[in-house]
Amino acid sequence: MTPSAMLSPALQPATQVALVDALVEQGWYVGRGIIDLGLCEALNSEVLHRAAYNGLDDAGIGRGQQHLLRKDIRGDAIHWLDRESAAQRRYLNAMRELQQALNQALFLGLFEYEAHFAHYPPGAFYQRHLDSFRGRANRVISTVGYLTPNWPSDGGGEMVIYHPDDPSQEVARVLPEAGTFACFLSETIPHEVLPTRCSRTSIAGWFRRNASLGGVLDPAR
Ligand code: OGA
Ligand code: MN
Repeated sequence: MTPSAMLSPALQPATQVALVDALVEQGWYVGRGIIDLGLCEALNSEVLHRAAYNGLDDAGIGRGQQHLLRKDIRGDAIHWLDRESAAQRRYLNAMRELQQALNQALFLGLFEYEAHFAHYPPGAFYQRHLDSFRGRANRVISTVGYLTPNWPSDGGGEMVIYHPDDPSQEVARVLPEAGTFACFLSETIPHEVLPTRCSRTSIAGWFRRNASLGGVLDPAR
């Protein structure tokens, strides 16, 4: 048996069907206990190690040349997944399977997945935003995998999801507890990260469509 065959699945087996249904019905999905906890632990150690040893970059807003550092908008620090560890490869392989399931069920033509670790120190937040703008068909589906075990109910740091047609209407509040997995339409679902009181770790990722516009290649990041 190969080592990967001995591992339990990275995502709960029934996730794909529930996720596709929720995306179609409401544009977003949240499930608890979805990501294997051993995998969360390995990924959490990796990002916390980077946070402790200067291995993260301040996150900005915008892509390519429009990239700006705005701590008043988002306060996390990030590291793009690079397949360096077995844990990263296991997570990314699970996302590749999810990509195939999404393409088969919804004909989305997703061709790429990009993801970064994120660490929000106490006090950090990310104001309400969309992950992609209509017309720039780059990010189609957003994913967030949460990595911090034993998140206290008063720890703050929830992701708030708003109604696509009425951004003042809150539709879900997600505690960033290890094992929880969220997924939503990047172009239409407004969301934010409330100020956290604890050190908060996650992997934010995006399934992309090819977005070469008028010969100008959309920058990957
Ligand atoms: C993002 C984001 C949500 C979260 O990185 O774009 O919205 O809960 N993250 O970490
Ligand atoms: Mn976002």
